[in-house]
Amino acid sequence: MDNYFLQELRRRRTFAIVAHPDAGKTTLTEKLLLFGGAIQTAGAVKSNKIKKSTVSDFMEIERQRGISVSTSVMGFEYRDLQINILDTPGHEDFAEDTYRTLTAVDSAIVVVDVANGVEKQTEKLTKVCRMRETPLIFFVNKMDREGKDAFDLLDEIEQKLNVKVRPLSWPIGMGSRFKGVYNLYEKRLVLYNPHGKQEEEESLVFTDLSNSELERHIGESAARTLREEAEIVETVYADFDPEAYRKGNVCPVFFGSAVNNFGVKEMLDCYVDIAPTPLPRETEERIVKPEEPQFSGFVFKIFANMDPKHRDRIAFLRICSGKFERNRSYRHIRLGRDMRFANPTMFMASKKTLLEEAFPGDVVGLYDSGNFKIGDTLTEGEILHFKGIPAFSPELFRYVENADPLKQKQFAKGLEQLMDEGVAQMFIRNSDNRRIIGTVGQLQFEVIQHRLESEYSAKCRYEPVNLHKACWISADDPKDMQEFLERRRRDIAKDNDGNLVFLAETAWILQTAQENFPKIKFHFTSEV
Ligand code: G4P
Repeated sequence: MDNYFLQELRRRRTFAIVAHPDAGKTTLTEKLLLFGGAIQTAGAVKSNKIKKSTVSDFMEIERQRGISVSTSVMGFEYRDLQINILDTPGHEDFAEDTYRTLTAVDSAIVVVDVANGVEKQTEKLTKVCRMRETPLIFFVNKMDREGKDAFDLLDEIEQKLNVKVRPLSWPIGMGSRFKGVYNLYEKRLVLYNPHGKQEEEESLVFTDLSNSELERHIGESAARTLREEAEIVETVYADFDPEAYRKGNVCPVFFGSAVNNFGVKEMLDCYVDIAPTPLPRETEERIVKPEEPQFSGFVFKIFANMDPKHRDRIAFLRICSGKFERNRSYRHIRLGRDMRFANPTMFMASKKTLLEEAFPGDVVGLYDSGNFKIGDTLTEGEILHFKGIPAFSPELFRYVENADPLKQKQFAKGLEQLMDEGVAQMFIRNSDNRRIIGTVGQLQFEVIQHRLESEYSAKCRYEPVNLHKACWISADDPKDMQEFLERRRRDIAKDNDGNLVFLAETAWILQTAQENFPKIKFHFTSEV
């Protein structure tokens, strides 16, 4: 492969920032973009949190969708690298969306609020990262406020998230006594000025903490504590090994205050030094390496009907190998059809730009009139199916019925397209052909109802269904499956892709089915 291609490939770093709502993800994203010069002013990155307070939920959902399209990928250049931040939704009901985005990154930054520590969403999201061995960096935020003791917090992270950590910076006090951090990675003392800007932040090379100059900068008592704690850190934690980080075995930790732009640049500088270049990706057929000359990529996110006048969608494609070029013909593997794209876009912060070529690690927005589903693959002809876009077994279920008999077609089409977009999962029960929507959050039901009306002029009605779990089933021997299907006819459904699903009304029914049919495998995640 030519040098230009390899150079461009090695310049790519693609990551997501994940956090429990309110930990500071939006603020941190914005500061990172400011460093990269991708935006000029603070406040340019809008939070895509669903705010329940002021406007109606539906308007809020639309507002959030509008923001989500433009912030799906935020690219910027920093120290000669092309950095792509992939945005993840702020609301926990959209966790599935976040899971899918995590399949398109090569590393992630986890923001933890120093006062709240590890929260529910932090746990869920890191678990998904762990499943994929995604390298993680932790950013402990809001050090300008009172919070947990740093050692306690690191223990909490290790225990709750089942990871190994290695602090690369160490806080000097917190809250009103916060004086800054000692950067263990670069051996620098970085002083915090609550009213200052990053440019004015004082950063001093300080290789020897026993130097009595330390007192002059941070005072006697803070100097004593820092010396003691730094010594403990160096004895308790093994030396930092970037290779172990890239394998997902150890997670560096930084401390700072995103809103004060403190500690952010340090983390970014370290990230740039250690973060992985685009990683190989597994397909059902083989492992695809980014440096392969032939192009391949997969769709991990779809936004439909952003403009009510045009039925168009934007499909976000992660490039896994080779070079993507505008107007070249590529094979849509599921449809077995060749397609070319005249207007592929790249999102540089909030600006959209037409793109001529893109490289592994990049994310391209493709305008589409309904050909793409989440998980679809594009290649130069080779049949490949990228793995690892999990659909989790949903937790909430309702029957969905058409509420306007004259709009049956619109209803069916709307539902199908919303499912392609990954808003929720739909199952059709074999025995009575009824449609059941399964979601991970309550909000999705509202989203579906609202979008069916506003985008497809269709109306839906929900009815309660008594279900505990829907899980995918498989068997090595088709005869075993046949027997199971006959014996449990009432509890069988198909998902949107035609895969067989077992609908269990209670945990007990699921358990007895597993016991009585040992040759049937029950799966709680499905790769779409
Ligand atoms: P999220 O995207 O993870 O949900 O969090 P976001 O960045 O929106 O931050 C949540 C709140 O925390 C915001 O306050 C933000 O200003 C604040 N915040 C972020 N970083 C820090 C920090 O380092 N220190 C302190 N003290 N606060 C921080 P808000 O009141 O919800 O919004 P705003 O009106 O300030 O924008």
